[in-house]
Amino acid sequence: MNESSMPGNVVTVDTTVPVWEQFFTVAPLVLIGTRDADGSLDLAPKHMVTPMGWQNYFGFVCTPRHNTCSNIERTGEFTVSYPKPSQVLITSLAASPRVAEGAKPVIDYLSTFPATQVDGSFIEDGYLFFECRHFKTIDGFGENCLITGEIVAAFADNDYLRHAEADDQETIHDAPLFAYLAPGRFAAIDRSNAFPFPESMKK
Ligand SMILES: Cc1cc2nc3c(=O)[nH]c(=O)nc-3n(C[C@H](O)[C@H](O)[C@H](O)COP(=O)(O)O)c2cc1C
Repeated sequence: MNESSMPGNVVTVDTTVPVWEQFFTVAPLVLIGTRDADGSLDLAPKHMVTPMGWQNYFGFVCTPRHNTCSNIERTGEFTVSYPKPSQVLITSLAASPRVAEGAKPVIDYLSTFPATQVDGSFIEDGYLFFECRHFKTIDGFGENCLITGEIVAAFADNDYLRHAEADDQETIHDAPLFAYLAPGRFAAIDRSNAFPFPESMKK
């Protein structure tokens, strides 16, 4: 290890306020689908999203202020749709504020198709779809909570699947991915490079 003093270009980031507004990070963007108490479908965009390990668990950060959180507590299930870059507008509209009666009327204008094993729907023009049973919620990250689910069914646009005979670089070029550049920007990724793994690395 070659330890020296802090490089001259490194400055302090203000931790008296949330750090996340002060620089960009790369995140996925998904729509979480749940069922409101009145039976209507809810879809809400989330970028604080991650696989929960190597197996079929999925997690995202939410807040009890959002219906998504109480819906999952009540129904024990949710869906995940990964939008294509062309779906940015639809994904954004799903964050429209609720009207006084608590409804989110914009959702009625989105094209969806039903999940198979959980009570919920997916956006029509997504590229990856998970059906999740609620696994556990961990509260207490300030006002936020981590909601996790077990993926019990999954679907994908065939163009987005890795095929043994295809080149991964071409797959991503022909089927671009959506990257949310938090806060407030996005990019379509259609060019990529193979990651230079160290020899004999084990995961
Ligand atoms: C691009 C984008 C990313 C978002 N990411 C998150 C997130 O990761 N976690 C979260 O709790 N809210 C996130 N939100 C906000 C909520 O999803 C949004 O307020 C939503 O309307 C809540 O809906 P609900 O009451 O139906 O759950 C995001 C909103 C946008 C536009």
